[in-house]
Amino acid sequence: MNADSPLRSGLTLAGIAVLGVALLTGIHHLTRERIAAQQRDAVAMRLSQVLAPDRYDNDLLHDVIQVTDPETFGHPGPATVYRARRDGQPVAVVMEVTAPNGYNGPIRMLVGILADGSISGVRVVSHRETPGLGDPIEARRSDWITRFEGRSLRDPTPEGWAVRRDGGEFDQFTGATITPRAVVEAVQRALEYHRAHLDALYARQSADEQSTDE
Ligand SMILES: Cc1cc2nc3c(=O)[nH]c(=O)nc-3n(C[C@H](O)[C@H](O)[C@H](O)COP(=O)(O)O)c2cc1C
Repeated sequence: MNADSPLRSGLTLAGIAVLGVALLTGIHHLTRERIAAQQRDAVAMRLSQVLAPDRYDNDLLHDVIQVTDPETFGHPGPATVYRARRDGQPVAVVMEVTAPNGYNGPIRMLVGILADGSISGVRVVSHRETPGLGDPIEARRSDWITRFEGRSLRDPTPEGWAVRRDGGEFDQFTGATITPRAVVEAVQRALEYHRAHLDALYARQSADEQSTDE
C-alpha cells in the first residue's frame, strides 16, 4: 500500500478517532468516580458534625432509608435518614430536615438524634436567610445551633421548645425572630417524629439491603 494512499490515511484517521474516544471515555469515568468520592467525603464530613464517628461502627452512608412525611420533613418529597449502629444495636439517626418557613425560604438541616431521644447535633446545610440577621444559625457565625446538643422532648418541656419571644428557652437573634423560630420548630418536629417512629426508623431495610435481597 502506498504510504500516502487514501486507504492508509483513512485507517490512520479512524485509529486516531478510536483512541480519542477511548481516552475521553476513560477520563469521563475517572472524573465521575472522583466527583462521586468527593461528594461522599462532603456528606461524611457533614454527618460527622452532628454525630461523632466514634459513636458507631457501621457504614452510615450505606445504612440509609427514605422517609416521606411532609409535615415533619418540611417538603413533599422523601427525606433521607442515616442510621448509626454499634455492634448492630441502634445508636442514632441523622435526618435531613427542612424548616420550610425561614424568612427567605426553606432552611435545610441535618438533625442527629441518639436512640435515647437526645440530640447529638444540628447543623444548617443550606439557607437563604439575610446575612447579619438570620445567618447566626450557621455554626461558623455563632454557637447558637450547638445549643440543641443534649436537648430532648423532656428537656426543655414542650412549652420551652420555642424562642424566648414566644415564651420558650431558645434565644432569638437581634431583630430576627423568624429564622430561629423556624429552626426550633423543625428540630422539635424531628424529635417528635423520632419518638413516634423509633423502632421503624431502625428496622426498615436500607436501599442497599433491598438490592442484595433481589
Ligand atoms: C430586609 C430585611 C431582611 C430581614 N431578614 C430577616 C431574616 O433573615 N431573618 C429574620 O428572622 N428576620 C429578618 N428580618 C426581620 C423580620 O422582618 C422580622 O421583623 C423579625 O424577624 C422579627 O423579629 P423581632 O420580633 O425580633 O423584631 C428582615 C427584615 C428586613 C427588613
